[in-house]
Amino acid sequence: MTNEKYRRPFTFKSGQTLKNRFVMAPMTTKMSFYDGVITEDEKRYYQMRSKEVGAVITAAANVSENGKGWEGELGVHDDKHIAGLSELASSIKVNGTKAILQLYHGGRMTHASVLKGMQPVAPSSVKALRPDSEMPRGLEEEEIVQIIDDFKGAAIRAAKAGFDGVELHGANTYLIQQFFSPHSNRRSDKWGGSRDKRFRFIDELVDSVTAAVEEITTDPFIVGYRFSPEEIEDPGIRFNDTLYLIEQLCQKPLDYLHVSLRHYDQVSQSKDYKDQPILKYLHEQINGRVPLISVGDIRTGEDAEKALKNSELAAVGRVLLSDPNWINKVMEDKEDMIRYDVTEEERDLLALTNGVWGFMQGMMPERLK
Ligand SMILES: Cc1cc2nc3c(=O)[nH]c(=O)nc-3n(C[C@H](O)[C@H](O)[C@H](O)COP(=O)(O)O)c2cc1C
Repeated sequence: MTNEKYRRPFTFKSGQTLKNRFVMAPMTTKMSFYDGVITEDEKRYYQMRSKEVGAVITAAANVSENGKGWEGELGVHDDKHIAGLSELASSIKVNGTKAILQLYHGGRMTHASVLKGMQPVAPSSVKALRPDSEMPRGLEEEEIVQIIDDFKGAAIRAAKAGFDGVELHGANTYLIQQFFSPHSNRRSDKWGGSRDKRFRFIDELVDSVTAAVEEITTDPFIVGYRFSPEEIEDPGIRFNDTLYLIEQLCQKPLDYLHVSLRHYDQVSQSKDYKDQPILKYLHEQINGRVPLISVGDIRTGEDAEKALKNSELAAVGRVLLSDPNWINKVMEDKEDMIRYDVTEEERDLLALTNGVWGFMQGMMPERLK
């Protein structure tokens, strides 16, 4: 079986080539030191899961001190992080795997306890609809400009550390998404109000990051963007807002778009878009202008084939936690050898320390717990 789509290399617009169509999905490890510096455990975790995959997108790395989302989070908000990040990039790049750092700001989805007593910040002073959420402080205009600058600074640090690219984490309810969402963004200045205005932060962010890396890198450097297609909040992002977002992002010099889905076959909540999976609508809307990364419960080669009908690259997350050699087993038709279960005793062998183990518990399908 040599014709499977996932075996073929893929070249981004910027010129970087992935050796196959698989990408390791960004997964928070909670393994970093208190100040965001990488640990030996974390390097071991990535070393184990790189090599076979086309690219690794790292766990979310925090770009601003006031954006830290949780303890053990990777940091990229200070030059002191460059040395450790450089070791991380090298350990991922063994065997030609590309290293992409995910850039993140938590916005209202964090806690004063994580921010050493500071109140979380957000586009507006509106609490998230989560049981443990805290009332954020609405950002001042200069602070918004500063955060865009922080993302830019973080991208430059990633390039200096030897990463092949960065992914802007515009998904999963964090700050970038909060600017686009009518639930979290109630501003009436130029950063909020109409949908066009709620897009302004993303617009300026993407332009600022792509221009900065263009300026400082001579080698091809990947800039990707991750988004969540819908929100449950009312008001909230609806699928037609996402089609608008895609339309705007297709006009930017981005190397890829990466949708965040629980299942690659997931259907929209919106009654107007129920005829086919979200992924297919997105792929049709993009129409080849920018490569799309699919994700969500891809557990077999057959799943990957199906997801790749409506995307150029497929991201896999949890299966790489339970089986770091999942890619080779799929590529070499040895799927019967894939490990889908992790026992407490195997945690050390799989480099799954307390943080990631705890985080996994809420996110693994029942049979993987
Ligand atoms: C332990 C864990 C941590 C995660 N951390 C992140 C993250 O830091 N950034 C992000 O964009 N998504 C994160 N996700 C979501 C994954 O990238 C992915 O979209 C999700 O797990 C679905 O893919 P899968 O079914 O292949 O695991 C995380 C998921 C898990 C299980």
